[in-house]
Amino acid sequence: NAAEKAGYEHFMLKEIYEQPKTINDTISPRIKDNDIVIEELNMSDEEIKEITKIHIVACGSAYHTGVTAKYVIEGLARIPVEVDVASEFRYRDPILQKGNMVIVISQSGETADTLAALRESRERGFKVLGIVNVVGSSIAREADSVMYTWAGPEIAVATTKAYSAQLTALYMLAMKFARVRGTIDQEKFAGMLTDLRCLPDQIELLLGQKEKIQHFANRYVGARDIFFIGRGIDYAISLEGSLKLKEISYIHSEAYAAGELKHGTISLIEDGTLVVALATQPDLFQKTISNMVEVKARGAFVMAVTIEGNKAIEKASDYVIYIPETNPYFTNSLAIIPLQLFSYYVAVGRGCDVDKPRNLAKSVTVE
Ligand code: G6P
Repeated sequence: NAAEKAGYEHFMLKEIYEQPKTINDTISPRIKDNDIVIEELNMSDEEIKEITKIHIVACGSAYHTGVTAKYVIEGLARIPVEVDVASEFRYRDPILQKGNMVIVISQSGETADTLAALRESRERGFKVLGIVNVVGSSIAREADSVMYTWAGPEIAVATTKAYSAQLTALYMLAMKFARVRGTIDQEKFAGMLTDLRCLPDQIELLLGQKEKIQHFANRYVGARDIFFIGRGIDYAISLEGSLKLKEISYIHSEAYAAGELKHGTISLIEDGTLVVALATQPDLFQKTISNMVEVKARGAFVMAVTIEGNKAIEKASDYVIYIPETNPYFTNSLAIIPLQLFSYYVAVGRGCDVDKPRNLAKSVTVE
């Protein structure tokens, strides 16, 4: 009812606005004396050093946080990471070996395939860490250890704040592992901790641009196809940006690794097709710009999302959203905000049932 929405038109918008608090609640209890302390992990430093591989298993948007985490964990802690959607993992007879760790990620803690993947891993004698939002849910009860994302109840079917909380929990895990394994120095670690703590305020700033994004979104209410491109973590952001848009607006959209464009998607670009280009990764910036130039030359309208100050992007785009500077591993948390707002306003503009998109369930408890 209206009271529960606290004055917002939809739960989704309310939850988008709760993200600074959500992230703060997920971070704060785990920072002590300028270090990351994850007591729930129940792992000694020795055990952390002995991890040979991490398997991340999840569905939907939670899977997308896993894709992001692969880049972050591999980059920071130098541990190989495999990410699977749960319905694939459970039936592919996954190779689990000595020293492997399994992480399942789930907002509800009830997703049938994710729960089955957890059970499969535990039956084979592997410990499972659950990153879960709902306290006392099945996954929380059955996992060997649980890292809660303190997002509170999420009502809108399309996840926003739980997604953001999952990302934050995974960043902290990656930083913790890197610290223990000696793959990050004190100075870099301290800098990342500062950047992590700045995320809530930076998100607040981005939320302040709501009207600008609403205005832009109104132009795309009638779009037929929208494409999202990016490389590395920007590709992971694209996956979630694209899913958010299509699940609530019913506009066909696809996310593509920007370097893969010429192997398919580019033939779908027509005059005026909107391409959302994510370019937040300094090492990949020039490469993504080249891909933007390619689609622009085929008539695409390019909306870019990049870090403040990256003015060079303007020559390759038609519209730019700048996000505040942060550590490159954390950009998903900022870049996703304008994409959530964009999806929301496109869906509202089309008169869609934003909080309850057709055919979708908040929690999928059948396989
Ligand atoms: C459903 C929801 C998605 C969610 C996915 C996984 O499909 O509509 O928003 O990402 O399930 O849910 P979980 O509760 O396991 O995170």
